[in-house]
Amino acid sequence: MQTLETLAYLLSAVLFIFGLKRMAKVRTARQGNLLAAVGMLVAIVTTLVATRNIDIAWVVAGLVVGSLIGAFAAVKVPMTGMPEMVALFNGSGGIASALVALAYYFMHQGAFSGGRLTMAEVFTAGSAPTLALSLLVGGVTFTGSVVAYAKLAGKITGAPILLPGRHFLNLALLAGALLLGVLAAFVVTSPTLMAVLLAVLLLAAFLLGVMLVIPIGGADMPVVISLLNSYSGIAASMTGFVLHSAVLIICGALVGAAGLILTNLMCKAMNRSLANVLFGGFGTADSTGQGGKEGYTTVKEASPEEAAMILEDAQSVIIVPGYGLAVAQAQHACKQLGALLEERGAVVRYAIHPVAGRMPGHMNVLLAEADVPYEQLVEMDEINPEFQNTDVAIVLGANDVVNPAAQKDRTSPIWGMPILRVFEARTVYTIKRSLSPGFAGIKNELFEYENNLMVFGDAKAVLLKLIDELQES
Ligand code: TAP
Repeated sequence: MQTLETLAYLLSAVLFIFGLKRMAKVRTARQGNLLAAVGMLVAIVTTLVATRNIDIAWVVAGLVVGSLIGAFAAVKVPMTGMPEMVALFNGSGGIASALVALAYYFMHQGAFSGGRLTMAEVFTAGSAPTLALSLLVGGVTFTGSVVAYAKLAGKITGAPILLPGRHFLNLALLAGALLLGVLAAFVVTSPTLMAVLLAVLLLAAFLLGVMLVIPIGGADMPVVISLLNSYSGIAASMTGFVLHSAVLIICGALVGAAGLILTNLMCKAMNRSLANVLFGGFGTADSTGQGGKEGYTTVKEASPEEAAMILEDAQSVIIVPGYGLAVAQAQHACKQLGALLEERGAVVRYAIHPVAGRMPGHMNVLLAEADVPYEQLVEMDEINPEFQNTDVAIVLGANDVVNPAAQKDRTSPIWGMPILRVFEARTVYTIKRSLSPGFAGIKNELFEYENNLMVFGDAKAVLLKLIDELQES
C-alpha cells in the first residue's frame, strides 16, 4: 500500500513537471494545464485514500465551497482583474500552508507529555523548524498578497507608503520571528507556551507581510505578486516537510522556483533589479487618458479614415498591442482588423513584448481569447528585425514598450529596457486616447517621429472605424 501511495505521488509530480513544460509554449499550454490538473487529481485521490479516519463530509464541504468560489471568480473577474485574482489565490495558498502546519502541531499536542519534550523531539529535528518556517512564509504571503490585491483593486492607495524606520522594523520582525521559531522548535516544552509562541510568530509574519508590500507602488504589484507566488510555493514546501509529504515538497518547490524565474524575467524585461522594484517606489499612477500636449512639439495626427487609406495598400502590417488593448477590450476588433487586412493580401503579425500590459502573458491571453492564430504572435527578439521591412506598424494602446528613449536616452528611467523597434517601420499609427504617458510616467519620443501618426481615441472605437472604412473601400 505504501509503495502504491509513493508511486501515485511520483506520478502526480511527473505530471506537474510535464504540465509546466508544456505550458511554456502557447500551442501546448492548454494540454499542459490539463496534464497538471490530472496530476492534482491523482494527488488528491491518493491523499484521500491514504488518509484513514478522515471525515469525508468535511472534504466534500470544502470541495463544494472552494469550487463555487472558483467558478464564480472565473466567470465574474474581467481579464484586467486577473492580477488581483492571482494575488488572492497566492494569499490563500500561503495561509492554507500555514494553517495545515499549525493543525499538524495541534493534532500532536497531546504527545508533548506534560511539558517534558521539545517539538524537535516529538516530531523530528528536521520538521520542527520547517513548521515555524511554514507559519512565517505562509503568514507573510497571506497579508502581503491581501495588500497587493487591495492596491491593485484601488481599495487602498497605490502610492508607496513609506513609514520611517521601516527597514529596521522589518529586520526586527524577521529576526524576532526566526528566534520564536527556534525557541518553539528546540527549547520550549510546555504545550501552552508553545501555542502562544506560534500564535505570536504568525502575527509577526502577518505584520511583516503588510510592511514589506505597502512601500511598493501599485503599478509594480505584478512583480510583487509573482514573488509572493514563489513564497506561497516555499510555504507549501515547508508544510510538505512537516507532513512528510513528498508530493507537497515537490509541488511547492516547483511553484517557488517558477515564481522566482518569472519574477526575474519580468525584472529583466523592464531592465530593473528586484531591489529597485521592492524599494524603488516606481510607476505609481496609471494613465487616465486626460493627458495634455505638454512636452510635445511636432505631433502629427491622422483620422481613422486617413489611416485606412494607407492600410488599404499595405503589404505587411505588424500590430503591437499594449495595456490599452486590455482596457478597451479591443481584442476581438483587433483580430477582425487583422483578418480583413489578410483578406486584402497583407502579411499580418502581432508583436509581443514580454511586459506589455500588466501581467505576464497579458497580450497572449487576450489575443488567444479572440482566436488570433498562434503563428501570428511573434516574440520581441524575432519580430524586431522585421520592422524595417514593414509597411505599417499599428501601436494599439502600447506606450512604454515602444518608447525609443529606452535605447536613445541614457537619462531615461526606462534606459536599457528592451523595446519593440516600431519606429523602423515605414509608417506607424499609434492608437491611444491622448498623449498621456504609460506606466513609467514619461514622454514617448515616438509620438514626434516623422513616420508616426497619432490616431486619437479608444482603441476599440478606432479599430471599428478602421474596419468600416476598409470594408467600404
Ligand atoms: P503602458 O506603457 O502602460 O501604456 C498604455 C497606454 O494605453 C497608455 O499610454 C494609455 O494612453 C493607453 N490606453 C489606456 N486605455 C486605452 C484605451 N481605452 N484605448 C486606447 N489606449 C488606451 O503599456 P505598455 O506599452 O503595454 O507597457 C507596459 C508597462 O507596464 C511597461 O512599462 C512595463 O514595464 C509595465 N509593467 C508590466 C508588467 C507586466 S508583467 N506586463 C508588470 C509590471 C509593470 P491614453 O491614456 O492616452 O489612452
